[in-house]
Amino acid sequence: MCGIVAAAAQYNIVPVLIEGLMRLEYRGYDSAGLAIIGDGQIERLRSVGRVAELAAAAATTTAITGIAHTRWATHGVPSERNAHPHVSGAIAVVHNGIIENYESLRRELSAQGYVFTSDTDTESIAHLIEATLQTEPDLFNAVQRACRRLVGAFAIAVIDRSQPGRIIVAREGSPLLLGLSENGNYAASDASALLQVTRNMVYLENGDIAELTAAAVRIERLDGTPVERPVHVSQLSAAAVELGNYQHYMQKEIFEQPDALANTLEIVGGSKSIQPGIFGAEAAHLLADIDHILILACGTSAHSGLTARYWLEALAGIPCTVEVASEYRYRISVPNPRQLVVAISQSGETADTLAALRHAKSLGQMKTLAICNVPESAIVRESALRFITRAGPEIGVASTKAFTTQLAALFLLTLVVAKIRNRLSAEQESNYIDQLRHLPVAVNKVLALEDDIRQWAQRFADKHHALFLGRGRHYPIAMEGALKLKEISYIHAEAYPAGELKHGPLALVDANMPVISVAPRDDLLEKLKSNLQEVRARGGELYVFADGDSEIPASEGVHILRLPEHYGELSPILHVVPLQLLSYHVALVKGTDVDKPRNLAKSVTVE
Ligand code: F6R
Repeated sequence: MCGIVAAAAQYNIVPVLIEGLMRLEYRGYDSAGLAIIGDGQIERLRSVGRVAELAAAAATTTAITGIAHTRWATHGVPSERNAHPHVSGAIAVVHNGIIENYESLRRELSAQGYVFTSDTDTESIAHLIEATLQTEPDLFNAVQRACRRLVGAFAIAVIDRSQPGRIIVAREGSPLLLGLSENGNYAASDASALLQVTRNMVYLENGDIAELTAAAVRIERLDGTPVERPVHVSQLSAAAVELGNYQHYMQKEIFEQPDALANTLEIVGGSKSIQPGIFGAEAAHLLADIDHILILACGTSAHSGLTARYWLEALAGIPCTVEVASEYRYRISVPNPRQLVVAISQSGETADTLAALRHAKSLGQMKTLAICNVPESAIVRESALRFITRAGPEIGVASTKAFTTQLAALFLLTLVVAKIRNRLSAEQESNYIDQLRHLPVAVNKVLALEDDIRQWAQRFADKHHALFLGRGRHYPIAMEGALKLKEISYIHAEAYPAGELKHGPLALVDANMPVISVAPRDDLLEKLKSNLQEVRARGGELYVFADGDSEIPASEGVHILRLPEHYGELSPILHVVPLQLLSYHVALVKGTDVDKPRNLAKSVTVE
């Protein structure tokens, strides 16, 4: 997961940049770099490998203004030329996130004579700012104008050798905060990088741009409106993860999803196609003759597997079974050495999932893949192939960003297997990749529904039961919504495929049973609508998460929230977000311990 550190001070800031990068090492990275202004020149150092190597290279470098970056790019060989900062003329830029329109920018800027020396989307930002400076010489105004042309998610920091002492930072979608002190001002991706110099933090909002000098900080919106942001005194111990503006880790982690997805999908880079190698060097060979996929996981991770089953069978045409790990490990099953066994786990240490993986191997099923958020974990170490989601540390017991990043990883697996089985045209592949790349922005728009969801939550406070309905690939999303609600608000919740209602659960429906329905505009919507009428006819109160273009009108007892974008196959990744927010706000209304619900632990390393 990429990290940014920037510093403008009255003293040599190179040690601050290096220490900051070291503090961000926990996020994972494979290359690092920094740029400073010295003697009217940009001096840039980049290295593949540990920050310690960059530190050694920078041992004699001194400067009062600089920017630094750690990058994690397993797409292709991590290389010095792809490492940040990227330079264009007098300026240098570091960036986190994904720029969606980088190809059109690259074409436009190449036509103007800019020469690209890396494969990154970031380099187009550098050239775009340089090009803007030709007509708008002030760096702040030029960065502001350039950012308005960027589509996607970003946090950036920019320096200009002809305007020394100034750093311009901006964010839209990726995290960025400022650190203020008497001797200098700083910016970073998270507070832990800046605790070495200050505890006074200012959390930038999406759409903010700021200028830092050693003496002052100025913040505006990207549209030019001046804005004030409160200073927050960090209570963070150097080892912990900062809550920032959020009340709970769960809320923070829900809102980190655009960034977590961008980081996870960074592996695809700017490419139009996906190679099996993203799952490990052996993947092409190992996936070549599989005839079945068996997914093993627990809880939320099992729900991501259940969602993926719809994708794998429909798009890749491969049969797929999803089994709760605690069942599989003790069941007498029929082994199949040609099947791919996928273990999904946030922690990588869940005892049941690890035991199920070992059990699968003990039956001679050696084609194993871990989809996991912790690179050094046991499940990763013991699997032949691996995909590391880059959700970052998940502290809240209720899993949120781990789930959506698992879904992104499983969709990549679907595309790779579909390709190997000749079920995916180049055009389809490229369209799906574009959709994946746009996900962080699409999730951001869903997060903007929080206020409406907060109001709905009030109506759940006195309820003891709730029913979640979904169909097709949104049925596992309904299951995930029910799990979230029960684990943090202690409201008993069940999920059903909507078609099953009349086979039993309809008997439960009355005015005291809220029914939450995931209702995207897909082939099953008309059928779902009839199921919803069955609920309404029995006096059930309906809460429907629809797409903007789903024609379900609100009426007495039928509450509708419309998600801004219709998202086709990837729609489950968007539709789970309002369900996470709903359970979070219901838990707040009920006053439960959101981050540490009773009787539950984050990492279930015992049986
Ligand atoms: C629910 C939740 C649990 C975990 C489960 C598996 O919010 O967090 O259901 O998903 O305990 O944990 P991992 O993914 O670490 O294997």
